[in-house]
Amino acid sequence: MTIAAAQPFLKWAGGKGQLLEQYERFFPAARGGRYFEPFVGSGAVFFHLRRRDLFEGYTLSDANEDLINCFRVVQQDVDALIARLEEHRRAHEKTHYYAVRALDRDPAWKEAPPVERAARMIYLNKTCYNGLWRVNSKGHFNVPMGRYKNPDIANADRLRAASEALRGVRLEVRGFEAVKDAAAPGDFVYFDPPYHPLSATASFTSYAADDFGPDDQRRLAEVFAALDSQGCRVMLSNSDTPFVRDLYQSFRIETVCARRAINSASGKRGPVSEVVVLNY
Ligand SMILES: C[S@@+](CC[C@H](N)C(=O)[O-])C[C@H]1O[C@@H](n2cnc3c(N)ncnc32)[C@H](O)[C@@H]1O
Repeated sequence: MTIAAAQPFLKWAGGKGQLLEQYERFFPAARGGRYFEPFVGSGAVFFHLRRRDLFEGYTLSDANEDLINCFRVVQQDVDALIARLEEHRRAHEKTHYYAVRALDRDPAWKEAPPVERAARMIYLNKTCYNGLWRVNSKGHFNVPMGRYKNPDIANADRLRAASEALRGVRLEVRGFEAVKDAAAPGDFVYFDPPYHPLSATASFTSYAADDFGPDDQRRLAEVFAALDSQGCRVMLSNSDTPFVRDLYQSFRIETVCARRAINSASGKRGPVSEVVVLNY
């Protein structure tokens, strides 16, 4: 396994795997500068671009501490992680799932070893209903067990390829604004924020603990404009709504077509137009 095979090791709301082909024409082609991804999620765009080695350095960040802990453990301690996931794989059944899910109800869990926390996150992500990470307002993971015949709990090849791709990458827990001070002229920044909802009822579905409102979208548009003035190349994904188009009206706005849950209550999926904003 090499970097060429590296892919996300978590399933994540808003994962960009299905859009990579349509994004191809927007990605920078020229070598140079560093890569920043301040809403990294599962890192689909990072893993895709990492294969080409276009950039001189990589910084991935996210406000979700559990998520960045997972990336760090995959990067630094992948063998111990695989061994622990093998144990979860062998123990997997309903009682085990709910016992592992309940671990975060103990305040001391925050101090548990990083490998333990990363293994729990990956185990739950692979076996929970819908395969998503959702916590309640207390930060407790609350998704019921899913029904999978053979969940991919301990995929050693995938984890090792991701570990290889993450070698030398900076990983930070921080809000998106920090990229303004970190990036310099010539660097490339890709933003994939929680999307502005298409309708009032479509909101508050997938990001219970970090709902991202209109003020956050406005602050993000300011950071986008600041990076543009600083001489960075900036690319951003969001939903195609009048509000989003208005925020980025002075930049190039392209559209792509995604298959998304259009109505979370009925679970219906259909093609939805999304925007890609570029300053180049
Ligand atoms: C749409 S997801 C990114 C999906 C990712 N591109 C992928 O392919 O999986 C948005 C991410 O933003 C993070 N997030 C939410 N609010 C944030 C903030 N204020 N600063 C940084 N990250 C934030 C969430 O934890 C989540 O991982």
